Amino acid sequence: MTRLAASDFRSDTVTRPSLAMRQAMFEAEVGDDVFGDDPTVIALQERAAALVGQEAALFVPSGTMGNQLAILSHCRPGDDVLVGEGAHSVFYEGGGAAALGGVQMSVIGRGGLFSAEELSEAVKPHDASGHLPPTRLVMLENTHNRGGGKVWPLPAFDAVVAQARVHDLAVHLDGARLFNAAHAAGVSASRFGASVDSVSFCLSKGLGAPVGSMLCGSVAFVRRAHRYRKMLGGGMRQAGILAAAGLYALEHNLSRLGDDHRRAQDLALALSSLPGLVLDPTSVETNIVIARLALEAPEPAALCAAVSEEVRALPFGARAIRLVTHLDVGDADIERAVSAFARVLGR
Ligand SMILES: Cc1ncc(COP(=O)(O)O)c(C=O)c1O
Repeated sequence: MTRLAASDFRSDTVTRPSLAMRQAMFEAEVGDDVFGDDPTVIALQERAAALVGQEAALFVPSGTMGNQLAILSHCRPGDDVLVGEGAHSVFYEGGGAAALGGVQMSVIGRGGLFSAEELSEAVKPHDASGHLPPTRLVMLENTHNRGGGKVWPLPAFDAVVAQARVHDLAVHLDGARLFNAAHAAGVSASRFGASVDSVSFCLSKGLGAPVGSMLCGSVAFVRRAHRYRKMLGGGMRQAGILAAAGLYALEHNLSRLGDDHRRAQDLALALSSLPGLVLDPTSVETNIVIARLALEAPEPAALCAAVSEEVRALPFGARAIRLVTHLDVGDADIERAVSAFARVLGR
């Protein structure tokens, strides 16, 4: 008898393209996108820009490249960039902001979000003596990955964007999971996306595409980003095969994100009753569940290894694990995960 593969909660990036998505990829009309000839890429870019309320968009291989192109396109080496605690561009992305953009990242606030006052206090004015690194850009992450899928409340988001304008700063929204944020906030993605200077979002996370992210902004911004995409080796040729998956994802998989959020709630509620796991289910706003480990619980890697035949979870820092719901996990996977943790932790 073949054993059932473990239910994979490590990330929403683990989804596999469905047969229907593969069919759309198979049938995609393509051209050389470096020459601007790929009709499917063009269609995806137009659709993405419209969805987030921006003028134009660029198809890029990854969310990391989207963020890095935004930094390169908004800043010059030596500039200062304000980001929330645990921001993807600081914690991950291999130090690209420093290595590629040559910028200094200043971390503000707690837990990923920050206030308009905290932003103002951190801004370094452009001084004539040249002592201070000029603050040029603010990056907001919505939802916030290390913050446990936290959503920026609209009033706080609007206040920070308005304050950035007061200081003449550009604003980039890392919306890798922007549609999760929009769903949770009960608004359209453009409600977050239209007021900022650039927005990136990922097709390859909760939306279920195998590859790809979008970087959106004004026509002038996208022209700059296009140049940097080529510089970093991100110019792709018959990319319409991938763009077709993205178009399919936007067409079919946006409306189901609420299922992932509901399952994350169910999972969090059940896990919170297990000994050794510390989590407040009311803090789970979207599809990411971060459980802290109490003193008596095993180390994160040991705990993940102990349940790994039934469920795959991600060690997340020194004393936490992360589980993410997505297109390829259903209610039965939630039950399986809960019983695997209950077996290891005891109830
Ligand atoms: C908030 C956020 N931004 C950017 C990225 C980068 O996306 P990619 O893995 O496609 O480079 C991620 C990936 O998890 C993310 O969570």
